[in-house]
Amino acid sequence: MLFTFAPAKINLYLHVTGRREDGYHLLDSLVAFAQVGDSLCLEEAESLDFKIEGPFADGLKDEEPEKNLVVRAARALGAAVGKEPNGRLILTKNLPVASGIGGGSTDAAASLRLWAEHWGLRADDPRLPSLAAKLGQDVPCCLKAETCYFRGIGDVTDPGPPLPLTGLVLVNPNKALPTPAVFKARQGPFTSAAPLERPPRDARGLAFLLASRENSLTEAALSLCPDIQEVLTALAAQPDCLLARMSGSGATCFGLFPDSASAQQAATRLAQTRPDWWLTASFLPAPSPLFQKK
Ligand code: C5P
Repeated sequence: MLFTFAPAKINLYLHVTGRREDGYHLLDSLVAFAQVGDSLCLEEAESLDFKIEGPFADGLKDEEPEKNLVVRAARALGAAVGKEPNGRLILTKNLPVASGIGGGSTDAAASLRLWAEHWGLRADDPRLPSLAAKLGQDVPCCLKAETCYFRGIGDVTDPGPPLPLTGLVLVNPNKALPTPAVFKARQGPFTSAAPLERPPRDARGLAFLLASRENSLTEAALSLCPDIQEVLTALAAQPDCLLARMSGSGATCFGLFPDSASAQQAATRLAQTRPDWWLTASFLPAPSPLFQKK
């Protein structure tokens, strides 16, 4: 059995720097991956079989398996290398769906990684990023799941700075927010690109650098889902919270904390006051390696 982790993708900042004629928005974003995420397992089977388990499996239960990005990634890579993706894929869906932390993209990237490993392809096989880009703009950066800058319309990635170990609390008001609607609702001027001036030394240094940056989609997301304001306020009110922001197009927000213990305490307190929210404590950056053979 082969197992790979599909870490949550967090946009530590996200600036919308312009808009192309075709309507797509130009972005500048520092993307990090967390120690929390979905997972994908491949077991031996005679044909392709796909199962979804975990706390957020229900949100995908009506979707046709062939439409799921995990299966599409398996088929696309199989076609590119001339192999049949025969095996049982088990996706454990721990992350909320349509929530701004990567979901389908990180799962699609995990599927490409898993089959590439299964078929003995090199991790730097050029077919992987090119297939990833066809599956979705932010799938290529999820392939390695390393801190990176997201540029262009999200299709260009450049290596990001090494990140210090930073406590993280993720909170979603249990409201799905479709990305196209948020981009459509965005108004106002564009924001300049603002890569970090220097690599942060510790969690406080990271929060300090991010404080002068923003998520340019927050206002648009708030207009569609006002609960996000409550989430941001509740996170910022936690003792030791260094910074609270929304990730991607929302509605998931994150709080940064000096370490994982303070993040855990904040998550425990928040869970007591808001049992109706999804929340989890974790830390940045993502684990390495992402694979396990059992
Ligand atoms: O990347 P994804 O397929 O999730 O994007 C969904 C929609 O969000 C796009 O169809 C587009 O309307 C909008 N979008 C955008 N600019 C981007 C990325 C997405 O306008 N850079």
